[in-house]
Amino acid sequence: MLVDFERSILERGAVEAVPGARLAPGARRRRLISRAPARVRAWWMPRNTVAARNVETLMSRLTGPSPLVLVIGGAEIGNGTDALYSGAPAVIGFDIYGTALTHFIADAHQIPFRSGAVDAVVVQAVLEHVLDPERVVREIHRVLKPGGLVYAETPFLQQVHAGPYDFTRYTASGHRWLFRAFEEITAGPVAGPGTQMLWSVDHLTRGLLRSGLAGRLARAVFLWLRRLDRLVPAPYASDGASACFFLGVRAERELTPREIRQYYPGAQRIAGSG
Ligand SMILES: C[S@@+](CC[C@H](N)C(=O)[O-])C[C@H]1O[C@@H](n2cnc3c(N)ncnc32)[C@H](O)[C@@H]1O
Repeated sequence: MLVDFERSILERGAVEAVPGARLAPGARRRRLISRAPARVRAWWMPRNTVAARNVETLMSRLTGPSPLVLVIGGAEIGNGTDALYSGAPAVIGFDIYGTALTHFIADAHQIPFRSGAVDAVVVQAVLEHVLDPERVVREIHRVLKPGGLVYAETPFLQQVHAGPYDFTRYTASGHRWLFRAFEEITAGPVAGPGTQMLWSVDHLTRGLLRSGLAGRLARAVFLWLRRLDRLVPAPYASDGASACFFLGVRAERELTPREIRQYYPGAQRIAGSG
């Protein structure tokens, strides 16, 4: 356990009291889904093909004899990232709780690695759960070798999903600015407005009926909404995305405010903004 408890949101007592358990809500449901037959899992949570494609690109760009990939929030295999675990490259994972996949417990605000130690960092669905994402991204930049790669997925229009451990959301431009000290390889929506609508149906139902179970039942009935994502062109998907991704290379300069204004990839271009 490599946590500086004096400077971390984590409490020693809580981490030690629940070894191997998740500190945030939703653990039981996630375990149930992970144990369900493959067809049920695929129906409830289809494969994240965006992540799969991006992880493939990341792996194809790794160079050197024995590249090292660091997975932050790596207690579970993220949807679509399974190729990372095929044996090469070497993968080190950490999280705020331990599982068979974690090599140590740590807080991403203080990654216990020397500077320039890793070739790539994967941080999928984690930055919304940290108190200070800017600081975590600075840490990612620090531990990467020059030319090192980062792959991030972060929610934009999603409801709270880990109770007290859910803090932040990003538009496509906001996400790009968060990674302003990186050069972009590719970025975009992970899932579009159909998926976002599905989340809203779930949360509207649970609010009206004061029941998480009712929300999940409504979600099951409206799962088809996700399919509408395919019909939405990229700029509109970007403005209404459920989550966005960024795949980039560690850079030695930062994007400027002018560049981020020109960057906006959505459907609401304003005359004179470029
Ligand atoms: C929504 S889960 C995503 C897990 C996995 N990456 C995936 O995509 O399925 C968020 C993960 O981030 C971890 N996490 C939250 N705060 C963290 C922190 N400060 N440092 C490291 N991991 C953290 C949580 O424990 C949890 O495993």
